Amino acid sequence: MAKALIQVAVKAQKGNCFRTAGDLLAVGVFSDTLAGSLAETLDDKLNGKISELKRMGDFEGKANTSCLLYGQGGISAKRILLVGLGERKAFKPEVLRKVASQAVSKAVDLRAKSVLLSLHGDVPASAKLDIAAVGQMITEAACFGAYRYDEFVTEKGKRPASVRATLVDADAKKVTLLKKGISAGMISGGAQNYARTIANRPANVVNPVTLASEAKKLAAATPGLRCTVLDKKQLEKKGMGGILAVGQGSATPPRLIVLQYVPAKASKNAKTVGLVGKAVTFDSGGISIKPGEGMHDMKFDKSGGIAVLGAMKAIAKLKPKCKVYGFIPSAENMPGAGSYRPGDIITTFSGKTVEIQNTDAEGRMLLCDAIAYAEKLGCSTIVDIATLTGACVVALGQKRAGVMSNDDTLVEQLKAASAKTGERLWHLPCDDEFVEAMKSKIADLKNIGGKWGGACTAAAFLSQFIKKAKWAHLDMAGVGVWGANESDAPGSIGFGVRLLTEFVCRTK
Ligand code: BES
Ligand code: MN
Ligand code: ZN
Repeated sequence: MAKALIQVAVKAQKGNCFRTAGDLLAVGVFSDTLAGSLAETLDDKLNGKISELKRMGDFEGKANTSCLLYGQGGISAKRILLVGLGERKAFKPEVLRKVASQAVSKAVDLRAKSVLLSLHGDVPASAKLDIAAVGQMITEAACFGAYRYDEFVTEKGKRPASVRATLVDADAKKVTLLKKGISAGMISGGAQNYARTIANRPANVVNPVTLASEAKKLAAATPGLRCTVLDKKQLEKKGMGGILAVGQGSATPPRLIVLQYVPAKASKNAKTVGLVGKAVTFDSGGISIKPGEGMHDMKFDKSGGIAVLGAMKAIAKLKPKCKVYGFIPSAENMPGAGSYRPGDIITTFSGKTVEIQNTDAEGRMLLCDAIAYAEKLGCSTIVDIATLTGACVVALGQKRAGVMSNDDTLVEQLKAASAKTGERLWHLPCDDEFVEAMKSKIADLKNIGGKWGGACTAAAFLSQFIKKAKWAHLDMAGVGVWGANESDAPGSIGFGVRLLTEFVCRTK
């Protein structure tokens, strides 16, 4: 099927970026001052051209702007891309990610095969970032910016098959540290792009069965990663009524994909973390069918599961000390003669019964079985991630995922990981009043609450399937899936891959 996407290579090299050959040299420009930055040196070499651009107002160094220069004598690179860093005093790590990604993306558009980056030199000391972390961020951003999803486009134009980013620094010690960051960044950035591709594939290509084969393929190719798949018969035997109910209207049966990473030298008291991701390969709503507008985007309803798949790929390579399970319950939610119906009462894996009031609230039916199973297999910390509710998008918009939990320390740990990876989170409640809203008169629970607080009632529903484990739920319905992302490639941004990876790697 698929033709290979753009290959990205990142390396670090000792040298002077102005005297290094390349197709494109990216230089950051602050909007408030050139003083002390690489741009100041470049401005001298270009006889004050950058200052002049600023004076004219053509390019002021504002965030999200850039300016391409050609034919500059004395600079070895064929082109120079000035990228706006915004105000120096307002510098945030996200600025660095943004400009590095912007520069590599521009290189792809220009069909420039090699891009030189010396952006790390402009990170203010006040940002408190060590140089290896900066190298990692730039590498992840380079992977992100180079990404285009075109495996089904038969006429690919002249986009390059590969792009190479080189981080240049005159100091050999810094180059060594940058290299350290680059190796970590290639793992996490590579896993993120892998996840984007699987998420971007349409529902006629990725269904529960083909997704399970993909997971098996990944595990076979990744030392330290194991994969088992529960098929329909095994799900029936285990009593996973939630997963089965959602899948029963589709021509393709549901699956529960179980990935496992076991550290080579697992200590006796190594923690076991469970990552659980919703993978509805297409959410039509089922019998409670969705309106037609925008329904095609419901191929992205597998994004939580794919985030877990991508994270497991990275985790197996980064080798943390804890044991990690990845659970990916997958089904296609379709209307049909065999579909589950509003009014049905489903017995879930936990033994709890659920009255279905809306077949479009299907994600929680998959997740409730998978999180209960995770706890049964010994996970003491469980993090689930899902494109679960439109209500979460209404509440938080498209830049933050909601986090709900039964443990405030776990929320803090997730937030700490989020601060490093830039995948933003916002803490929302899921306590008593929301639990109350999910009680049914004819079963233990119902699958929808009232009119208000839909993201919170969904999380409160899930919380009822945890016994003792520390649990957090990430609602990523709004984030980086539906168009409004900051990438030049429409579709998935692979949200959650780096966040889950970072979180797990911080777990002792
Ligand atoms: N997959 C959707 C949630 C969703 C909506 C994700 C929009 C991304 C964008 C989920 O399965 C769903 O349909 N949720 C319903 C729940 C409702 C029936 C209680 C929703 O949000 O409308
Ligand atoms: Mn739905
Ligand atoms: Zn859904």
